Amino acid sequence: MKRGSHAAIRALLAAAAGFALAAYVSLAAGQGATVTPRKGDDFRAVYADTQDVAEGKAVAQGSCAACHGLLGQSSIPGIPHIAGQRAAYFYLELNAYKAGKRSNEAMTRAVKFLSDQALVQVSAYYASLEPARPAPLRGAVSRQSPSTGTTFSARLSRRFSTR
Ligand code: HEC
Repeated sequence: MKRGSHAAIRALLAAAAGFALAAYVSLAAGQGATVTPRKGDDFRAVYADTQDVAEGKAVAQGSCAACHGLLGQSSIPGIPHIAGQRAAYFYLELNAYKAGKRSNEAMTRAVKFLSDQALVQVSAYYASLEPARPAPLRGAVSRQSPSTGTTFSARLSRRFSTR
């Protein structure tokens, strides 16, 4: 083979590699909603101490409570309950909003000027709270039997009683 054709093949291979990389990058970008955590720090909020939780409460009071409530149980339609989510999830999502990788204008505005430490603390604080109780299912069967007035479990235990 002549030198010229070697060069042509090399150029072709380089172009193919470039194309594969571009395809990979655009695929990865399409996955959305997460940021790549910096080495070793994605679990920082999980290991926050009580001091961090207390300081996180102050952050929540100033930056989040107007929408999510100080207890993380929202009373505003369209604003999610957040209490009781995992700290690592909070931290990841708050960083995603901050970086604009998860897009929501209200949230991006809320976290834009918070420091990394404040995000760790507010994550630990909301993670420490009890989650909102789900509303009872509509049409759920009552545990009280309408015919006998005994509870379902009482009837069950009678049924399986060996006496
Ligand atoms: C102006 C109102 C507003 C403020 C202030 C606000 N949020 Fe939000 N938050 C929202 C809305 C609306 C959403 C839903 C956005 C979405 O669907 O991505 C949301 C979503 C979230 C989510 C994602 C919930 C999930 O299940 O994925 C988290 C976590 C969160 N907020 C935490 C916070 C924290 C922490 C603060 C304070 C630093 C804060 N928010 C301040 C309105 C607000």
